[in-house]
Amino acid sequence: MQYTNEELKQKIDELKSKLSVTVVAHFYQRDEVFEVGDITGDSLELATKTRDDDAEFVLFCGVGFMGQSVKVLSPNKRVVMPKIASCAMASMINGAEYDEAVKVLNSVGITNENILPITYINSDAEVKARVGEMGGMVCTSSNAKTIITTALKEGKKILFVPDRCLGQNIANEMGLKSGVIGLSDNIAEADIICYDGFCSVHQLFSVEDIEFFRKKYPDIIIAVHPECDPAICDASDFVGSTSQLIKYIKGLDPEQKVAVGTEFNMVNRLRPKNTYVLSSTKPECPTMNETTLQDVYETLKAIDEGEPINEIQVDEKTQKWAKIALERMMAL
Ligand code: 13P
Ligand code: SF4
Repeated sequence: MQYTNEELKQKIDELKSKLSVTVVAHFYQRDEVFEVGDITGDSLELATKTRDDDAEFVLFCGVGFMGQSVKVLSPNKRVVMPKIASCAMASMINGAEYDEAVKVLNSVGITNENILPITYINSDAEVKARVGEMGGMVCTSSNAKTIITTALKEGKKILFVPDRCLGQNIANEMGLKSGVIGLSDNIAEADIICYDGFCSVHQLFSVEDIEFFRKKYPDIIIAVHPECDPAICDASDFVGSTSQLIKYIKGLDPEQKVAVGTEFNMVNRLRPKNTYVLSSTKPECPTMNETTLQDVYETLKAIDEGEPINEIQVDEKTQKWAKIALERMMAL
């Protein structure tokens, strides 16, 4: 049966008060889904805050790797997702492709002992586990610089997967050399060797979009996410993760115009006026948008009926090593 959003919200509230469930929603979720979240935030905040929460079920509204991170960090929790939607970037690398990337480094004379792998949190548990087993760790867009600074102290080459843009942007910011497997000529010379993955949503922003806004409003501030191409980040005034963008933009003078290069749902609820989406094409993350209020209700109903749906499972070995990779990050 189809209900209105108001009816669904009421039904969701009734089920939440009866069940031991915490509803968690990422910043990129549709507004109506975001509003029913008990915990909201970026991917790292969601994984850490749910760890300290004692409900039996976590109902995770986001993309697959985020739900998996909760399960990896809190294996005793039951994690269900209204839609097991896959992040396009995370889908660009699996365990076998990670192994191939390591072999490419070996082929240019970099031995495994000299590789320190770092995976962006936007990756499957299988990849995080491979990284953990090789002595590496996870990073997010908010802590990538700290993680890379620490990793470089080991004097090794960094293999950065899967986001080539984040890897290159951090290298540029830190004055380091970067290369991309399959795209750069001499990866052996790079400090940070990136896998050729990217986010299709953040590729939508162009230097022409920035020029358009700067011409129209000469005092405008351009703020973008580091998943954007390095040329976009170079031409911007502020580069930050989802949480950093929110904090920065909310702290601006209300009259200050800002054009933001990240996912539409988040930009749209940031600030009532003087905030623009930095693209003529609506930058919606299709898989984040898949989750509807009806799905949240159906998932709660399934728990209530004793037959949970879309439950996240991670095998023991993957869980162990992926957790180690995540905890190495958290320890920093
Ligand atoms: P956060 O880690 O900042 O939540 O971002 C995740 C993401 O998918 C950005 O596109
Ligand atoms: Fe993945 Fe990009 Fe969507 Fe973020 S916006 S979840 S990186 S596809």
